[in-house]
Amino acid sequence: MLSKPMQEALNNQVKLEAASSYAYLAMASWSDIQPGLNNVSEYFFKQSDEERIHMLKLMRFINERGGFAMVPTLGQPIVTFKGIKSMFEEFLKHEIAVSDSINDLVSLALQEKDYATHNFLQWYVSEQIEEEKNARVLNDKLEMIGEDKSGLYLFDRDIMMTRQKR
Ligand code: FEO
Repeated sequence: MLSKPMQEALNNQVKLEAASSYAYLAMASWSDIQPGLNNVSEYFFKQSDEERIHMLKLMRFINERGGFAMVPTLGQPIVTFKGIKSMFEEFLKHEIAVSDSINDLVSLALQEKDYATHNFLQWYVSEQIEEEKNARVLNDKLEMIGEDKSGLYLFDRDIMMTRQKR
């Protein structure tokens, strides 16, 4: 059975994963209308789906453990970007915030001596290592490319490969 603080913290994480899904959906849509960013758009549509899966996994766990997973209210995410670089910076910022939040949940689970939740959260810990790394690699690539149009062409062409390696 989940403690009240644990349940509340997990529901906050549900909200954060839902907000991530929304934020990446907005990135997908923005990229979709930019010239030459078709694969970047596809990348964020997939990323958005993945965040929804993260949310669902948490919701099922909360209910399974005697809590109540609440569908959260969401605000509108950032829907337009100055450019591809600022969008990817936002992506990395977001993933870092998610990692911090997962770490806080792990600490709380230990504090509450809730080892079932602690065990459950390990999947998210590994997932965040991967997600943060991917966002960093993509930001590094964009930094290297700068304003080079052919570099950007290759960035878009190859971006889905960074997902397949996962
Ligand atoms: Fe589920 Fe990318 O955080």
